[in-house]
Order: sequence, then structure tokens, then C-alpha cells
Amino acid sequence: MTPRALLFLLSLTVLVSSAVAIKWLAMHRVHQPWTDPRHCPKTHDDRKSYGLNGYQGRMCRRITELMPIITKAAKETVFGCAKMFADRRWNCSSLLAVPYLRNDLTKGTKEQAFVYALSSAAITHQVAKACVSGQLPYCPCGKNSPTAVSSADPTYKWKGCSDNVFYGMRVSHEWADAPWRSRIRENRSDSSSRQRRINRESALFDEMSFMNIDFGVNKNIKSLKPRMQMNQHNNNVGRQVTELSMYRKCKCHGVSSSCTVKTCWNTLPDIVQIAHKLREIYDVSAEQHLRPFPVFKSDGSIDSSDVPQQNMVYLRKSPNYCVPNLADGSLGTQMRECNVSSTGSGSCSNLCCGRGYNTQQVHVEEQCQCRYVHCCYVKCNTCKYWMNKYYCK
Ligand SMILES: *[C@@H]1O[C@H](CO)[C@@H](O)[C@H](O)[C@H]1NC(C)=O
Ligand SMILES: *[C@@H]1O[C@H](CO)[C@@H](O)[C@H](O)[C@H]1NC(C)=O
Ligand SMILES: *[C@@H]1O[C@H](CO)[C@@H](O)[C@H](O)[C@H]1NC(C)=O
Repeated sequence: MTPRALLFLLSLTVLVSSAVAIKWLAMHRVHQPWTDPRHCPKTHDDRKSYGLNGYQGRMCRRITELMPIITKAAKETVFGCAKMFADRRWNCSSLLAVPYLRNDLTKGTKEQAFVYALSSAAITHQVAKACVSGQLPYCPCGKNSPTAVSSADPTYKWKGCSDNVFYGMRVSHEWADAPWRSRIRENRSDSSSRQRRINRESALFDEMSFMNIDFGVNKNIKSLKPRMQMNQHNNNVGRQVTELSMYRKCKCHGVSSSCTVKTCWNTLPDIVQIAHKLREIYDVSAEQHLRPFPVFKSDGSIDSSDVPQQNMVYLRKSPNYCVPNLADGSLGTQMRECNVSSTGSGSCSNLCCGRGYNTQQVHVEEQCQCRYVHCCYVKCNTCKYWMNKYYCK
């Protein structure tokens, strides 16, 4: 895979795009990771069944090393979303049907905003970590910039291999924003715009140049249709929240770990923590019209002075998800298990929307009264009892 081959390929193909950009999450069904170009979808139908557009299909063949990482990000997004929303009326189960999505994830709701942000964060996170683990041979360690550190402390040595969050953001942008990229109005009299696009692609393989690449998509974002602008914005939120979650980790050195010298590097927390942060943003994001977009600085980072809050943006009020309504993308909450003793989102009063609940007795067997026997093993009894389960009417 040489940059030259990639240029050739790109110059042959007209980019075809679709407005729904998270269809690639269908890659969560890939069981055997694609590690060779031959594993990539071959036919148009095959490609569509994994939700890939033409550009993503080509990326699969040209940059196959990325595919196991993208697959992991898809799994993290689909199963992580379901976990995050398990006790809510909208529980993310509609995402399991991807690439076939319902209106809850296509018409511009808050839920859509969350899924986009999580998916672009998951790619950023997976790629940033892959750079450190050596899965991406052309990706170096990230910048050891001592942003959060008082540089006055002379004991710090920035020598560790930091997660390469900028490269993660680059790939996330390349992959997750691909479906609308071709819709961005290019300056047709500017003969270098195609060249710029080609440069951007080959920069993925060039550790020196990818930092200097202009995220041109954000400059012309206003030329996108509102729903694409929304998706672009929320993808940016996912990447930005990931970037801002970087923290410093240090290891002590010195005589008997006296810590006279520390080796430090920047690392990202677990994706679950980033997902929690995104859910907090989802919870506070008020319905709002599109606001000015984040601006990328020349080093590829987001100019956060331009973004008062990392708010998600959405265009349409969500239904309350209480009753089934296909047009709204609501599945309703009938037969959902609820919790009588809780007062939170999974409580019977919230989940059942005032319809009440049915009680079912279920027989439970579990190990109990466990104790050590002699020194080394544990013996338990089996306790059998009945317990109540509650289901929304
Ligand atoms: C388009 O590109 C040409 C040539 O680079 C430049 O002179 C012109 O100002 C550009 N127009 C816009 C609207 O950016
Ligand atoms: C999620 O909600 C749907 C619709 O209410 C329901 O059919 C499904 O069983 C729920 N999934 C889980 C894992 O609770
Ligand atoms: C119900 O909610 C209570 C209080 O939040 C919690 O302690 C309990 O584990 C929950 N029960 C189930 C079955 O989830």
C-alpha cells in the first residue's frame, strides 16, 4: 500500500455519499477481523450490508490495518450505547439493526446526536491507543505536550509513549465524516481542491504531514444540509470530548522508587468514561439550532475558545418513547422490566409512563452461605427462593 497507489485509486473514483453516516456501525457484526484486503466486502451488496460507502470500502482495501480497529470501535459503540441506556425508555436497541435504522436515528434527534458523538469518539480512542500498541506501523507516539503539567517541576521527563489522540481524530474524521464529505461545496475554480483532498489521504501514511493538514470540512460546513451539519458537529463533539479527556500518567524512578525522576506520558481513559461524559452532555443538551462550529487550529486541534460548551446539537424534539410509533422511531416500553424500589430512570413509574406494571414471581437458585473449608477451597449452599420481577403494562 503506497500513497501513490492510493492517489491513483482516488483519482479514478467519484465519491458517492449518503446522508446517514453511522451505517458503518454494522461492522459490529464482523467476527473474524478483516486483516487482508481480500477480507473486505467485494460486491456492492456486501459492502452495503456492512453499511460502508464507496470511500470506506476503498479505505478498507488500502488501509486494511485500520479495519480491526474500526470494527472494535463499532462494537464499542453499539454495545456501549445499549449499556449506557439500558434503564431508559429509549434504550438504543434500534441501533442493533444497523445498517437499517429507524427514525429515532435518522431524523435529527438527541439520541442520534449521542450515537454519532460516541461513534466518532470510539474511533478516536481506538486509533489513539493502537498507535501506542504498534498496530499501526506508520503512526508514531502522540505528542508528549506537558499541557496539564506545571513545567516548573524539573522532575518530569516526558519520555513515555503517549496515546496519539491527534492521529485518532484524523482517522475518525476521515472515516466517520466520509459520507457527507463530497457534499461539501468545493471552490470549483480552485484547481487545487482535488489535490488538497488527495494530499489529505496520503497524509494518513505520513507521520510528518498529518499534523499540518487542514480539516477543510469545517470551513465549508455551512454548505451542508442541516442534518449533515448536525452529524458533523456531533462527530466533532465526540472527538473533542475524547481529546479533552487525556490525562497524564507517570512512573517513578530513582533509588528504591524514591521518585526523584518521573517518566510521564499522556493517556486516554477507558472509552466507558468518555461515554459517561457524552451521556452527561446528552442529558443537558437543550434543543437548539445550529450554532457556530468549532474551528480547527493549524495543528489539527480544536480551537475550544470557539465552542462555549461541547454541546450536542439536534434538530428535532424526541418523542417520549412511551408508546410504539414507527413514524417517530419509538418502540414503546411495554413489557420492559422495571425497578419498583428505584426512583431513577429505570423506575417503574418512569419507565412505564404511568401505565402501571405487572408482577411476576420467578424462581431463583443461587449459591449462598459460602465459607472456606480447611485452607483452600470454598463451599457454598444452594439457596432457592422466589422473587418478584416487574414489567411495564
Ligand atoms: C476560489 O479559488 C480561486 C483560485 O484559488 C480564488 O482566487 C477564489 O478567491 C476562490 N473563491 C472562493 C469563494 O473562495
Ligand atoms: C429495549 O427496548 C425495547 C423496546 O421497549 C425492548 O423491546 C427491548 O427488549 C429492550 N432491550 C433491553 C436489552 O432491555
Ligand atoms: C433497583 O434499584 C435499587 C435502588 O436504586 C437497587 O439497589 C437495586 O439493585 C435495583 N434492582 C434491580 C433488580 O436492578
